[in-house]
Amino acid sequence: MTERSSFLEEVLGGLRQEQKILPCKYLYDAVGSQLFEQICELDEYYPTRTELAIMNQSVDEMADQIGEEVLLIEYGSGSGRKTRLLLDSLQAPAGYVPIDISGEILTESAAVIAKRYPDLTVNPICADYLSPVEIPSPDRPFRRRVVYFPGSTIGNFEPSEALEFLTRMVKQVGAGGGVLIGVDLRKDPAELERAYDDALGVTAKFNLNLLERINRELNGNFPLESFSHEARWDGDLGRIEMRLVCDVGCEVTIDGEIIGFGAGEYIHTENAYKYDVTEFESLAVKAGLSPRSVWTDPAEKFSIHYFAVSEAFC
Ligand code: AVJ
Repeated sequence: MTERSSFLEEVLGGLRQEQKILPCKYLYDAVGSQLFEQICELDEYYPTRTELAIMNQSVDEMADQIGEEVLLIEYGSGSGRKTRLLLDSLQAPAGYVPIDISGEILTESAAVIAKRYPDLTVNPICADYLSPVEIPSPDRPFRRRVVYFPGSTIGNFEPSEALEFLTRMVKQVGAGGGVLIGVDLRKDPAELERAYDDALGVTAKFNLNLLERINRELNGNFPLESFSHEARWDGDLGRIEMRLVCDVGCEVTIDGEIIGFGAGEYIHTENAYKYDVTEFESLAVKAGLSPRSVWTDPAEKFSIHYFAVSEAFC
């Protein structure tokens, strides 16, 4: 199936539902990825800078836990700042396998890493890491495979999907393997809602870009001025919901199909689940991981966990 036809199918499938939804992975086209980089710089959006501060503070301890000569696998290679910090501290890493859905970002960041670490075998894989990916072995011996999954991207999954995803990671790294993962923590709802609805409106632009993208790529006609961005904390589910609210009723045509919106009806575009440290550990244990270390910032906004694959699961 072509990229356009799967995008179209998922968009129409999501908008035909009683509660309209759009898959959050489509937020990250070139424009969306650029806007996300801007979000990371915002005063209100604390996760990126907090995770970076924890890395700066504790990366040597992380490297100790991970050990020597590892094959490092990273999901969603992003801009690579945290990765460079980690690679700078690791003892003789054997290889680095960044996996990203965007070929452009991937090629660029892999080239930067390869140049900076001439002894490292870099094997980029362009793939949607949500589906199973075969990891090539480097031409050098390595002691273990370790997945690095920063950014609290795990929070975009439903807890059941997160469990499935962690289980897949366990299979991928195998016996003796490890997982280093960034997880955003539960906190004051007002602080969370601000982080996902900033004063400059960058997050609103990021969210609305999804409708613009549908207009551009799927021959849609969303009236952008009729939709507004909203971020809502749901304390029972422990998640931030990003929404696009239709302020007045309207009809939208997408590739010839008409979708009706009532006034006040919204499209649910993204979830960002927040966990307590022990809550996330229990989830990981179910997936076959043993908690080894967890690092947080002094204000306990964000956490980075290191897990080893449990022996019982090998
Ligand atoms: C990159 C998916 C982790 O959920 O915090 C930021 C995305 N969305 N602001 C997050 C995002 C709105 C971000 N992740």
